[in-house]
Amino acid sequence: MQKNKAHGKVINAFGNLLHVEFQGNIQQGEIAEVLVEDIALRAEVIEISGNIAKIQVFEDTRGVQLDTRVEFCGHLLEAELGPGLLASIVDGLQNPLEKVADATGLFLMRGVYMPPLDRSKHWDYHPANKVGNVLKRGDSLGHVMEGRFHHNIMLPFLLHGQITLTWIIKPGSYTIDTVVARGVDEKGHEHSFTMVQKWPVKNALMEGEKVKAASMMDTGIRIIDTQFPLLKGGAFCSPGPFGAGKTVIQHHLSKYAAVDIVVVVACGERAGEVVEVLRTFPQLIDPHTGESLMTRTVIICNTSSMPVAAREASIYMGATIAEYYRQMGLDVLLLADSTSRWAQAMREMSGRLEEIPGEEAFPAYLGSRIAAFYERSGALLLKDGRMGSLTIGGSVSPAGGNFEEPVTQATLSVVGAFLALSRARSDARKYPAIDPLISWSKYINKVGEQMDQELEGWAEKVHGAEKILKIGDDIGKRMEVVGEEGIALEDFILYLKSELYEFAYLQQNAFDKEDAYCPLKRQVPLFDLINTIFAAEFDFATHDQARDFFNELQNDVKNMNFLLFNSQQYSTALKKTKETIERICLKEELVRT
Ligand SMILES: Nc1ncnc2c1ncn2[C@@H]1O[C@H](COP(=O)(O)OP(=O)(O)O)[C@@H](O)[C@H]1O
Ligand SMILES: [Mg+2]
Repeated sequence: MQKNKAHGKVINAFGNLLHVEFQGNIQQGEIAEVLVEDIALRAEVIEISGNIAKIQVFEDTRGVQLDTRVEFCGHLLEAELGPGLLASIVDGLQNPLEKVADATGLFLMRGVYMPPLDRSKHWDYHPANKVGNVLKRGDSLGHVMEGRFHHNIMLPFLLHGQITLTWIIKPGSYTIDTVVARGVDEKGHEHSFTMVQKWPVKNALMEGEKVKAASMMDTGIRIIDTQFPLLKGGAFCSPGPFGAGKTVIQHHLSKYAAVDIVVVVACGERAGEVVEVLRTFPQLIDPHTGESLMTRTVIICNTSSMPVAAREASIYMGATIAEYYRQMGLDVLLLADSTSRWAQAMREMSGRLEEIPGEEAFPAYLGSRIAAFYERSGALLLKDGRMGSLTIGGSVSPAGGNFEEPVTQATLSVVGAFLALSRARSDARKYPAIDPLISWSKYINKVGEQMDQELEGWAEKVHGAEKILKIGDDIGKRMEVVGEEGIALEDFILYLKSELYEFAYLQQNAFDKEDAYCPLKRQVPLFDLINTIFAAEFDFATHDQARDFFNELQNDVKNMNFLLFNSQQYSTALKKTKETIERICLKEELVRT
């Protein structure tokens, strides 16, 4: 497909949107280079009409003038895929940020592009095939160990048809650019394969059969795992106003979610936030393995000061890297914070293109772009019988926390779980500020099938807890009008039960050593205890008596969350709490005094 490169010159500019008059053949999405002051600024073709192309530049366009030369590269925006992606920190064009910073100083200079993968590092390569074997795209040529992961070296996904292997390298230590196999296609053309391949990031990378997501992705966050659970291969979003805790939740998930690989796309709301990610992440320890958390992580960074086009590129870059690891039979989680930044980029560009605007000036295709992104998630049955999964979670930051706006609404219609953060809850320091009255998960029943083995009737119990929260909320509202005494004692007890569930179970301190991470083995007995409380028939004589009792019980349960699980102290606290419940529940004479 090699052709004479098309080229052209700038005839008009609107911010980072350039109009280019060109000669030759170009395609939608093709990468171009704008040659200014000895540097080449990368850009992407977004519209072609006749011999005029509109291109958006991924960087600051200062210095671009009338007649500035533009060269087209003949390929789309691509990700480079191969060993060494893990633990890397790149920008939306996959520049390795640490290396760029080493080369150019702390401030990233425009026009500096570097290969994302280390060319000099040697990897122990284990071939997996014989000469004469016939392979298709995605089939394994061999593998290297990337940390603790079998990194499958797969026949390039861009290749169609069959390849018959004609030569295979001996096992040994090689760099990623080494040819590790050769083969011929059905037309007799020769192909050489290295450990690296490329993929156009805007297209979904998938080989295998999409199957229904069925297994839970536990997170260690009680309100998520119990009340609004997630599935491996599912999609979810967490919208919320500025400061409600979206980023804290995303960071938590990247640390604790029970998956193999996490790809973090940080389109920060604040510039400092991204620096914070870069500074803290490499220090963190993976609670599942005890290794550095970075060994399972890829970070793609953009600050809000980078041009808008780069944000869009980061989202797609992240999806592609995540899909690539899914093809190895791994469970991958892709987190994007915040997708509103990406939507704003679409809006800005659409405005410059003078497209007919949709709601709130977002382009009419906003919904389909968002849907296409989340649809890249999914559980995948691979040809060799293994399963891989890609779970996608995006935060959304609607202006003023108004969930009726187009980005939230478009996202809502394509995800399986909606974790809505509310200002009222974060102001009241009820963290995580996920509002249980408006959040939902379509995965409760599926997760229930799995959790039944831990606690019978799990899904029913979860629905029951949700009901108590709703009833409690209703009663709470009435109480605001008529006061505690105006509420029937029976209803008041229901209210106290829902309050206890909120306070001692759904709330969780992300910054406490023990409470931050609550694995299922710890959630199950606690949820069981909560259900005992829900089911208990308390027979109090007065409102005061009920309140005093529940205050104490609430504190007892809450305090258990800060104790080392199954420690002596924890067991004692659990025993004491159970006794308290039984005491009040069974001995009527005690209650009636
Ligand atoms: N789970 C939590 N536990 C304790 N504090 C939290 C929690 N979530 C958020 N916070 C507090 O709220 C602040 C803002 O959270 P952040 O995630 O940055 O908000 P957002 O990304 O929605 O703008 C945090 O710096 C922290 O002080
Ligand atoms: Mg944030």
